[in-house]
Amino acid sequence: MGYADIYRSWQDDPNAFWMAAAEAIDWERNPTKALFHENAPLYEWFSDGLTNTCWNAVDRHVPARGSQAAIIYDSPVTGTKKTITYRELQVLVAQLSGALQERGIGKGDRVIIYMPMVPEAIVAMLAVTRIGAIHSVVFGGFASNELAVRIDDCQPKAILSASCGIEPGRVVEYKPLLDGAIEMASHSPDFTLILQREQASASLVDGRDFDWNQAQESASPADCVFVEGNQPAYILYTSGTTGQPKGVVRPTGGHLVALNWTMKNVYNVDPGDVFWAASDVGWVVGHSYICYAPLIHGNTTIVFEGKPVGTPDSGTFWRIISEHSVRCFFTAPTAFRAIKRDDPQGEFLKGHDLTCLDTLYLAGERADPDTIEWAKDLLDVPVIDHWWQTETGYTIAGNPMGIEQLPVKLGSPTVPMPGYQIKILDDDGHPVPTGELGSIAIKLPLPPGTLPTLWNAEDRFRKSYLERFPGYYDTGDAGMSDEDGYVWIMARTDDVINVAGHRLSTGGMEEVLASHPDVAECAVVGVADALKGQLPMGFVCLTKGVSRPNGEITAECVRLVRDRIGPVAAFKLVAVVDRLPKTRSGKILRATMAKIADGIEFKQPATIDDPAILDEIREAVAGLGYPLQ
Ligand code: COA
Ligand code: AMP
Repeated sequence: MGYADIYRSWQDDPNAFWMAAAEAIDWERNPTKALFHENAPLYEWFSDGLTNTCWNAVDRHVPARGSQAAIIYDSPVTGTKKTITYRELQVLVAQLSGALQERGIGKGDRVIIYMPMVPEAIVAMLAVTRIGAIHSVVFGGFASNELAVRIDDCQPKAILSASCGIEPGRVVEYKPLLDGAIEMASHSPDFTLILQREQASASLVDGRDFDWNQAQESASPADCVFVEGNQPAYILYTSGTTGQPKGVVRPTGGHLVALNWTMKNVYNVDPGDVFWAASDVGWVVGHSYICYAPLIHGNTTIVFEGKPVGTPDSGTFWRIISEHSVRCFFTAPTAFRAIKRDDPQGEFLKGHDLTCLDTLYLAGERADPDTIEWAKDLLDVPVIDHWWQTETGYTIAGNPMGIEQLPVKLGSPTVPMPGYQIKILDDDGHPVPTGELGSIAIKLPLPPGTLPTLWNAEDRFRKSYLERFPGYYDTGDAGMSDEDGYVWIMARTDDVINVAGHRLSTGGMEEVLASHPDVAECAVVGVADALKGQLPMGFVCLTKGVSRPNGEITAECVRLVRDRIGPVAAFKLVAVVDRLPKTRSGKILRATMAKIADGIEFKQPATIDDPAILDEIREAVAGLGYPLQ
């Protein structure tokens, strides 16, 4: 069957489609049906089944694949390589689960994981789901304040962390950041487990912090605890319009079924193949395609601790692909832009045999045609763009390589996957004609594995995603679909920007800038960047009477965002202006400011209060080197 037949078979009978996909998962008690719509427009899947995430990702593979590598850890920043088989992984995970259980962690309890890219991070995720608890991984590039916000929102009983992460040229000590976060938060975890790495030793607080290894010594290995299909497996916070992140809930049953389905149908890999997603466990790509999907499907996954360039050079990706026989490689376009900038002729590819590689997949941000073409010419494999979000956890639109390779149209992530009916709507919720730009909405219900709600925030879930277009999920992306049914993702419709594939909230950055004592008013917009896709650019108006040099204040603004949100925000561009352009009703014209910075033609908004301010913005962005040449 081709793509069109499979898509139609899902449309004709979604229940049968997903129940068939669910057969590939081990259930302690089979679900009686796929969709549970009793609480519509909030939907659940496989709610009356009983299963366990870790069982499906680890234990069930041990009899047939016990000696197959489950994880290959390759860390050019520490000069370490290590292989963990499925059998070894089961022992490691059960032991850590036992230590958690012994300290009172059980079904439904939350555990935060704040770790670098080491195999223990995967072991931690699996150990939490093994005992029916719920993990929330926080990306290591976030600062204490961001961690504290997440601690208060999900109220973890335990935090699993490490002494440090390693960034090129520096060791990032995690423990002081963790201590700072625990101090800032109103909620306190009962205990922490700290993995001591040789690059930094963390000091442990007596009675609260325990050494990762010592804590496990006396523990008895724990068995899998089976949970209902609608029980959350994890919460992953992602950026929204404000500084308060959204806790995306991932339900157990649908997550297992849908991720497993994608491995063959979307990525065209078979159990036993090596699958590599070069991302970080702190992001959804890391959750779905470093940890869960490859393991659920019986593949080998790679945990890579390094960067595409500079660790030690821009041939690292090629070395890893050839050395570990990677069949399917997945990363963000920004990684390829970084390599292309460093090694435009692909000199570092020489000497690496990449015949093992079938396909390169890109996601996380718009894949620009130049980068796709360059990667395709260099690697001589299909380069497949696909579109998804933290909220969905897997592909909304893609090219289903395991079903049929559809013709690639550069700039489009191809077509909707089964489970997703995409509509392009105008502001009143009416479908726009083919080829016209609008808001991208998905007909409810969303498929299995996607978010059923936000953690502790059902109202916010309804407001953010369901209210704008009744009967649809509002993706927050704008774009169009063409005469062949291909979708084109053009921009966000909210205050979210995408910096090096990392999703960040400009609203959150504005909240930080506004807390600076000399800042009276501010705006942050996303502007184009040749490497990272977008960068945040801030405009601040100073409080009356402030006479310190502007440079001093902008440097403090940069420091403040780095300290409160984290280095990952890459907030370095900020200018002092007298006033911000606004409409007569006082709304800041952020989109106009972004267009000025990007040098894009725009029509002066009819409602602008004082057009002369736009010249001041032009001058300010020029001072920051914008528009780019
Ligand atoms: N812990 C602590 N700090 C971290 C961190 C972590 N886990 N991850 C990133 N940072 C820091 C970096 O050191 C950098 O700090 P600096 O301002 O002092 O240099 C800052 O956060 C920005 O990091 P990053 O976005 O990685 O930018 P970079 O300039 O170091 O590297 C790329 C640029 C393109 C090479 C890099 O972004 C990359 O590899 N991207 C791959 C895409 C990806 O993984 N996307 C995830 C979603 S699929
Ligand atoms: P995240 O939740 O971090 O995965 O970010 C999701 C957002 O990244 C989407 O809503 C899009 O704005 C953007 N995005 C992800 N993949 C693509 C893609 N293939 N093309 C264009 N934008 C993308």
